[in-house]
Amino acid sequence: MSEVEYFKKLHEKIGDDFITLSSLNIMKTSNYEYPGHFVSLWDDFTHNIPSWENYLFDKFKGKDDLVFLELGTAQARASVWLLEEVLTGNGCKLLTVDHKTEQYASIKGNSFLAELYNTIDKQTPNVYPDKIMEFKNRDWWKDRNDFKFPYNVLRNLKPYQDSERCDFFKGTTSTFFKSLNVKEEVFDFIYIDASHNPEDVILDAVNSFRLLKTGGMMIFDDYGWGNCKVGIDCFLETHRNYLEHHLDKFTNYQMIVEKTKDLV
Ligand SMILES: C[S@@+](CC[C@H](N)C(=O)[O-])C[C@H]1O[C@@H](n2cnc3c(N)ncnc32)[C@H](O)[C@@H]1O
Repeated sequence: MSEVEYFKKLHEKIGDDFITLSSLNIMKTSNYEYPGHFVSLWDDFTHNIPSWENYLFDKFKGKDDLVFLELGTAQARASVWLLEEVLTGNGCKLLTVDHKTEQYASIKGNSFLAELYNTIDKQTPNVYPDKIMEFKNRDWWKDRNDFKFPYNVLRNLKPYQDSERCDFFKGTTSTFFKSLNVKEEVFDFIYIDASHNPEDVILDAVNSFRLLKTGGMMIFDDYGWGNCKVGIDCFLETHRNYLEHHLDKFTNYQMIVEKTKDLV
């Protein structure tokens, strides 16, 4: 079934509520309003916005000819925020990489959706608009714990790909680095948020750092999650003569790295 057919079927099943869900951006955790075309089913990113504004705005916002790289696009929450809020100068570009374009969000493991459903269940007044509270009367409500919402990242990135401000690479990060035909430092900023296995994180870090300009910045997500830090610490230790780093002082969760010296 094509994406269009899938969305058509989904729309038939839950009607305009699907659009309402995404346009209300109920999954957001900060007050950032995504553009109207953006459909998102969970939120990996907006809690970082206050600290990213702090770290990225002075350094990059509105400057020309910047090239950014993101490893791990998911629904393109970080990508779209970067394109809308930072890469606003002339000739800027974002490359973003993921081995998947379509994923599903179910209530399982989705704290935002779970919280929404719980709130509706309890009929907590004045928390969500009446239109959302009406969900409880819908046919699909009884199946809500098994209901899976699909998303397609290409839909969220389309306007930026059309205007040649963004390229999406579908493949693993190691395939991406192998496919690159550049040896010199080309990126001003790199967000590392793909596989969180330490052996993959360290490879992504080393490959990225070789292509990061001196003076450029890298951010690792999830320093405080699982074994991700094992890979990050290993990279930091082996590259300590070429960088400065510190834990994000707002979230205490992401690792911020600045490249201070060319690798020899
Ligand atoms: C945490 S999500 C990224 C969230 C995104 N950066 C954001 O802020 O919205 C991680 C993504 O990395 C992708 N991923 C995991 N391992 C990968 C790999 N080896 N190569 C490419 N993508 C990978 C997953 O498919 C998933 O979409």
